[in-house]
Amino acid sequence: MEPIIETCDLTRRFGKLTAVDHLNLTISRGEIFGLVGPDGSGKTTTLRMLCGLVDPDEGTARVAGHDVAREPQQVKDKIGYMAQRFGLYLDLSVEENMNFYADLFGIIGSARMELKTRLMRMTRMEPYRNRQAGQLSGGMKQKLALMCTLLHRPQILFLDEPTNGVDPVSRRDFWAILYELLKEGITILMATAYLDEAERCNRVGLMHRGRLIRCNAPEVLKHEAGADNLEGVFVETVRAAEKLES
Ligand SMILES: Nc1ncnc2c1ncn2[C@@H]1O[C@H](COP(=O)(O)OP(=O)(O)O)[C@@H](O)[C@H]1O
Ligand SMILES: [Mg+2]
Repeated sequence: MEPIIETCDLTRRFGKLTAVDHLNLTISRGEIFGLVGPDGSGKTTTLRMLCGLVDPDEGTARVAGHDVAREPQQVKDKIGYMAQRFGLYLDLSVEENMNFYADLFGIIGSARMELKTRLMRMTRMEPYRNRQAGQLSGGMKQKLALMCTLLHRPQILFLDEPTNGVDPVSRRDFWAILYELLKEGITILMATAYLDEAERCNRVGLMHRGRLIRCNAPEVLKHEAGADNLEGVFVETVRAAEKLES
């Protein structure tokens, strides 16, 4: 499998704190990879470094065939990043938000029309195209944020806790959309705090204090730890890591 994301000892410090500590990660084209870990474990900083938004202190990252430090623009052209707090304009309608991002990404004319129609159909947001973003449910806001991100036509999608605080039904809808995108060949790297969600990924990386302490397919992780679910794996692994550190 061809790697589309590759990091080598990627490290970022904030003062004395090492937010991401010598991260080595390889993700293949077409994968959906879940980065899991408690708050503060370094998930967002990892995503931001891979998107060229934060510079590493050490190490390198290659994304979509480009070195992120040397060719940040080429990387940015090929990716979509949906931040934990994605910038929607709450006083604008669904469609106006989409037009704003389409302008930003230079998607014009018939290409814009086609893409907007396709995205609204895929997310079943057509009936809400004229609704103000501020009047949408949490789940629909996240779908709109995803649509805006997809207007960039990314090869790789970086999602930072995209279903945080979203109700279970909308979460299921959101996942149905992600599987559609995977079928189209998009690669997805998502940070999530939901372990049941991580279980739906091809592979999962467990982060703890900036380090990747486990990385494998959910089935393999469960088998290795003799656990029924990822929660068991996670608790076991974190306990073992903390024992080593103390
Ligand atoms: N801009 C920043 N300045 C100082 N500390 C930061 C900054 N961004 C992140 N951190 C710290 O780095 C650590 C990892 O944060 P983050 O990557 O946001 O983790 P997560 O997304 O897993 O919650 C945390 O301790 C956080 O407080
Ligand atoms: Mg975060």
